[in-house]
Amino acid sequence: MKYNIAAVPGDGIGPEIVASAIEVLKKVGEKFGHEFNIKEYDAGGCAIDKYGIPLPKETTEGCLASDSVLLGAVGGQKWDDIPNHLRPEKALLALRKELGLYTNLRPAKIQPALADACVLRPDIAAKGFDIMIVRELTGGIYFGERGRNEKGDAAFDTESYSAYEIERNARNAFEIARKRKSHVTSVEKSNVLETSRLWKETVHKLHESEYPDVKLDDMYVDNAAMQLVRDPSFFDVMLTSNMFGDILSDEASQVTGSIGLLASASLGDSKRGMYEPIHGSAPDIAGKDLANPIATILSAAMMFRYSFDLAAEADCIENAVNKVLEAGWRTKDIAAQGAENWLRGSEMTQKILAEI
Ligand code: IPM
Ligand code: MG
Repeated sequence: MKYNIAAVPGDGIGPEIVASAIEVLKKVGEKFGHEFNIKEYDAGGCAIDKYGIPLPKETTEGCLASDSVLLGAVGGQKWDDIPNHLRPEKALLALRKELGLYTNLRPAKIQPALADACVLRPDIAAKGFDIMIVRELTGGIYFGERGRNEKGDAAFDTESYSAYEIERNARNAFEIARKRKSHVTSVEKSNVLETSRLWKETVHKLHESEYPDVKLDDMYVDNAAMQLVRDPSFFDVMLTSNMFGDILSDEASQVTGSIGLLASASLGDSKRGMYEPIHGSAPDIAGKDLANPIATILSAAMMFRYSFDLAAEADCIENAVNKVLEAGWRTKDIAAQGAENWLRGSEMTQKILAEI
């Protein structure tokens, strides 16, 4: 088969990690007989520098015309003083919205080989965990009205959700749970927020009418943040709003060992998705070949699984990563403290390629 992929490397370490993932894509293509037509587009700070705006029309159109999108990361201090509507992050948010990607899947799993990188107590890490965060991605406080008063000394952001937005995400969470351990934890703050009360009500309605076989429990977000480090093995699927999922997925990544390991898939109603590591652009290490490419490589695996229905190809990438980690190879972020024999990003990529 032939697939058109839009690559959006972005800023900071984005270009290096996307280049690594493209090498892996191509190798898998050779092995399984697929052709990938990959076109690169600008978004984020690099687009601001070139065109004065974070998301040029060609990028949106190119992504819309593709079978799937592979994204690196956007942003950096260089663009921190730019007005809010022109910030690099706007490119990412607008792409999610324009492509209709309302659900974000963020798997957080402890790799046996990396138990030593896990920041939790060994007895907690030993229980293992495998969590799928299902994050709402195109609503809530990220997209609500915001502003300042005339004097500029007071500001507001608004969280708003419709039952429709909540339901389509809850449906995805229940469907995914059925293929896993059939347990959904709906995260909210219904002891304080009205949107959370609607969230809880909507999730329960759908549960009763269509998914009574799935175990459902509710958890306040503050408690969820605590349970994630106290006993992550409790969770199977975590269903969250946009903001809560953003925060909890960073926490979950540290619990697995490094933010450099976590992949994500953003999905909507069509097969076209956007695949990106959950980490940022890390400008401090950009261009030094220090970035861990694994999160982006695993995001490419998710592209095979969710957009192209190529499970064997996805397994092949995931197994290659596991084998390299099991053999003891580490990038700097996951190396034992003080260790000197870690791999550069490009070396890690070569190790993974060799296992494919
Ligand atoms: C993420 C990032 C983004 C988000 C930023 C860069 C806008 O933190 O994908 O988790 O908040 O969604
Ligand atoms: Mg985030």
